[in-house]
Amino acid sequence: MDWEGGRLLLPFLQVVFHLYPPLGLVSSSGPLDLSSWHCSFSGTCECDFRPDLAGLECNLAVNLVGQQLARELLMKGLKGFVHNPSPEKPLVMSFHGSSGTGKTFVGSLLVPHLFRSGLRSPYVHHFSPVVHFPHAEHIEQYKNDLKNWIQGNLTRCGRSLFIFDDMDRMHPGLVDVIIPFLGPSWVVFGTNYRKAIFIFISNAGGEQINQITLDFWRAHKDREEISLKDLEASVYKAAFENPQNGFWKSGIIDQHLIDFLVPFLPLKQHHVKRCVASELISRDLEPQPDVIQAVADSIPYFPAELKVFSATGCKTVTSRVPFFL
Ligand SMILES: Nc1ncnc2c1ncn2[C@@H]1O[C@H](COP(=O)(O)OP(=O)(O)O)[C@@H](O)[C@H]1O
Ligand SMILES: [Mg+2]
Repeated sequence: MDWEGGRLLLPFLQVVFHLYPPLGLVSSSGPLDLSSWHCSFSGTCECDFRPDLAGLECNLAVNLVGQQLARELLMKGLKGFVHNPSPEKPLVMSFHGSSGTGKTFVGSLLVPHLFRSGLRSPYVHHFSPVVHFPHAEHIEQYKNDLKNWIQGNLTRCGRSLFIFDDMDRMHPGLVDVIIPFLGPSWVVFGTNYRKAIFIFISNAGGEQINQITLDFWRAHKDREEISLKDLEASVYKAAFENPQNGFWKSGIIDQHLIDFLVPFLPLKQHHVKRCVASELISRDLEPQPDVIQAVADSIPYFPAELKVFSATGCKTVTSRVPFFL
């Protein structure tokens, strides 16, 4: 894959991306800068990649509520990978959990701790189905463009991050075109792509995670006792067998290309309260206990009769707070 290829073969994505420029998705179409030239020819070039895992760990500990398991798995995956000068395969992680549990939040939180220019880095690529792949009838065009986009950008810089958000809304079959980039082969189309990081974000398996967490609660076991082993098989099964999501019958699952499944558990009311407090502080307001309680009480919980876990995580906290001030 050469530069011109990267530039010419993406007309469709370019139109969409210029209308809705996501996180750094203009890189292949932009003019060739000197650092890119350098990166094209230097096997050691790390481009904008400046991992600060201690900073990330601290940020997660302070700002991510109630997701100890996700935090541990994420850090384990990154620690083993980023300081390895020649990884054997790209790092592939998949975040699963129901809505509002912090998946997208973690996706954006980690970027500034990996790339110097953070979310503006040209080596960070964020895909959202509703923005970038909205029309089912263009699926073949999307497949072609997506493959060329990944290939072109990995040619530019092996240390690139690709985030696929809302996988449950992705057309089944679309992401399978990137399978050649996820495995351990040395090169694809002349490019070493083993240093890349791929993150998939999905609600698929969220119901199963919620059910298992509820079962633990019913058995008087701590939420923190839940391990990956308790969740893994059901999450993969749910994602693979549901025709309504981007992992349906996907080779990514079938060929075991995901290195780290990162499950996000349903949040309890005390977690929601922390989200409300953070929201108030971010608005320069006093985190008053009565306001925090009122917002947390206004959120739906499940199971309906017991009200143990938030049905929407912390998703609606930001929009609810103004009604209680
Ligand atoms: N575990 C969490 N810790 C702290 N804030 C959270 C958490 N989960 C959700 N939030 C808050 O709720 C908002 C929506 O969460 P988001 O990450 O978009 O949910 P989803 O899991 O559906 O991607 C976030 O921007 C963040 O402010
Ligand atoms: Mg999300």
